[in-house]
Amino acid sequence: MPPQRPSANAAMRRFIRRRLPQLLSTEEIKQDMASIQYELALAHQEIQKKQERYALLEEEHGRRINKITHVFVTNITLIDQSESRQQEEYSRLQSRLQRSTGSWDTSHPRQRLLTALHAFHRYKERNLVETKRWRDWYKKIPKKQRSIVESTVKYTRKLNTVEHLFETNEQLAHEIVKHGMHFYNISQAELDQFIKENENKGVNTDKTSVSQAMKHFVRDWADEGYEERQDAFPCVLGTLANMSRTSEQPLRVLLPGAGLGRLAHEVNALDGFEVTMNEWSMYMNLAYRYLSSLSSANSKAFHPYIDWWSHQVTTADLQRSVSFPDTLASSSVLLVEGDFTTVFAEDTGKYDVIVTLFFIDTARNLVSYFENIHRLLRPGGKWINLGPLLYGSAPFLQLSLDEIIALTEHLGFKFQETDASCGDITIPGMTVRGKEVAYARNGKGLSKNAYQAQFWVAQRD
Ligand SMILES: C[S@@+](CC[C@H](N)C(=O)[O-])C[C@H]1O[C@@H](n2cnc3c(N)ncnc32)[C@H](O)[C@@H]1O
Repeated sequence: MPPQRPSANAAMRRFIRRRLPQLLSTEEIKQDMASIQYELALAHQEIQKKQERYALLEEEHGRRINKITHVFVTNITLIDQSESRQQEEYSRLQSRLQRSTGSWDTSHPRQRLLTALHAFHRYKERNLVETKRWRDWYKKIPKKQRSIVESTVKYTRKLNTVEHLFETNEQLAHEIVKHGMHFYNISQAELDQFIKENENKGVNTDKTSVSQAMKHFVRDWADEGYEERQDAFPCVLGTLANMSRTSEQPLRVLLPGAGLGRLAHEVNALDGFEVTMNEWSMYMNLAYRYLSSLSSANSKAFHPYIDWWSHQVTTADLQRSVSFPDTLASSSVLLVEGDFTTVFAEDTGKYDVIVTLFFIDTARNLVSYFENIHRLLRPGGKWINLGPLLYGSAPFLQLSLDEIIALTEHLGFKFQETDASCGDITIPGMTVRGKEVAYARNGKGLSKNAYQAQFWVAQRD
């Protein structure tokens, strides 16, 4: 309620009550009247001030209510948008996975999915084949030497323990399969049939891809991967954090070849970005879908290093268990599965930023990657890169850094200045910087393999 004005009549009544019993001169009455008018003027002033203050408060209150409503509505809208993005992409994914889509061969998404499910399913058997080989080799050393080894380091017990730990890891592999079948809608009968046909043909599962996908739980989602992430993430995140944006009009960021997506989630945590990650490998995608389903931190553990015995300080290190996820994945990040060069065919000019982390050197055709990055960015959009030039997978061409710069400048990218904290300038007169960054390193191991990863920010014309 606003404060009420005291009426002039009330003041007059007070005056009569106080003054009537006395005999007053006209002069005295005039003086009294003047002082009462003065009091009334002050009272009016006070009331006016209170009314103004009240109006201000009312305005402020209204603004606050509006703001709270706005934040609330914006958040609900963002949640709705992110849910509908997930749903739309899920139905596109389901349609790509139909057997009738495209030709039914080993590159069909459903075949690649079944192949990866098969490999996770056979996790233990494939690794026990390896430990059996190690046992057989061990038998090749003379009995006398073996008895020394047994009495000092108990090598057979080590083999037994590791075999047992493969069984523990197998539980995780099987959970990944179970979740994957549910997520992608694959029946037990379909998977069994696929496995049977492949095993009858003598097809071997890809043990390395399973192991690499599982080891990415450490790189991306375990406390043990923190240092590695600290090597790689700050320059990318710092560049993004400085970009002007609002939560109502977020910048669209795409991260192709995202692996298990921790960088994508760190970008999402910056706020004001709509984050899409993309990954081709169904081994990675199965692991990521599983990870995204976890609802409590550090609820899972496995023994990531038991499949490679080189560079170990102690056997306890080799056999140690690592728990994950250190933090939970967010449902706002969208994963688009498939080949980066084909799956975004309809998204020309859609993205404000593309971040390539340890990605460009996976290309068979580097030019297609660069053209695609250019096509997907809106004019003026930015390409942020960090990674080495480790060519693999039968590349059609293998370019040096200077050639990459020349080629991408020709395609319409302008390389920008970046912060000195992101490394030393690699080629004098150019802006690309080099920084030592580890990748999938066993933090307690004796091997300290790292890359002189190249960092750049380039703007599309
Ligand atoms: C070296 S890994 C890096 C993963 C992640 N960026 C990281 O730093 O942990 C490269 C990733 O790119 C993926 N990849 C390779 N070719 C791809 C393509 N054409 N489209 C999308 N992803 C691809 C691989 O499956 C792999 O997960």
